[in-house]
Amino acid sequence: MKILAHRGYSVKYPENTMIAFLEAAKLNIWGVEFDVHLTKDNQLVVIHDESINRTSTGKGFVKDMTLEELQTFDYGLWFAPEFAGQKIPTLAEVLTVFKATPFQINIEIKSDIFEYPGIEALIANEIHAFNLEDRVIISSFNHESIARFQQIMPNVKTALLFASLIMNLEEYIKKFNTDAIHIPYYYGMRSIVQQAVKNGIIVRAYTVNDGAIARQMESLGIDAVFSDVVNL
Ligand code: G3P
Ligand code: CA
Repeated sequence: MKILAHRGYSVKYPENTMIAFLEAAKLNIWGVEFDVHLTKDNQLVVIHDESINRTSTGKGFVKDMTLEELQTFDYGLWFAPEFAGQKIPTLAEVLTVFKATPFQINIEIKSDIFEYPGIEALIANEIHAFNLEDRVIISSFNHESIARFQQIMPNVKTALLFASLIMNLEEYIKKFNTDAIHIPYYYGMRSIVQQAVKNGIIVRAYTVNDGAIARQMESLGIDAVFSDVVNL
């Protein structure tokens, strides 16, 4: 089964930090997934939530702070004392790690709660700067963000992220220049998803932390799974 390390090697290391990415990069897996937000001074940073409250020693929204301000907080301590000293990574720092691997790199644009004007173009610039056009998959729950990214960089793979299924799924997917969707794993057996798989849609499932479920996904024709545990 193809596995993407979800937020890096996040079962053992603090999610979306450099140590989680450096450890994921050592694994024999298909790829990595991580989440990107935009700072007040238009820097791309890797963190899951809109705010830094849960995963750092600071408080506030990423969009309201500069990169320099965000870097004054610790992003490892919340997970365990031994990881004190982890900083918020920039997209460039994370791409530097995975440039040196054969990994597929799934960048999730976290533009579904705050808009982050211009984030798609900034991400496209970074992908171009690293010459990673052939190894990146851009995804987002904000499908307008996906459409904007496709306008800027039509040669990079994209995927529509869903938190729940919608009616007329395949018709909806056809409106976008993509052939892939990322869905919660427990929808993998639904007939609407199985029909999409039969019709050649690439379906990837999150978040699978159990080997039996990973095997079930494989038998259902799911292309890859996102996992915190990674060793399934
Ligand atoms: O991209 C799959 C998965 O990461 C989406 O959910 O909340 O973990 O970003 P979330
Ligand atoms: Ca994500």
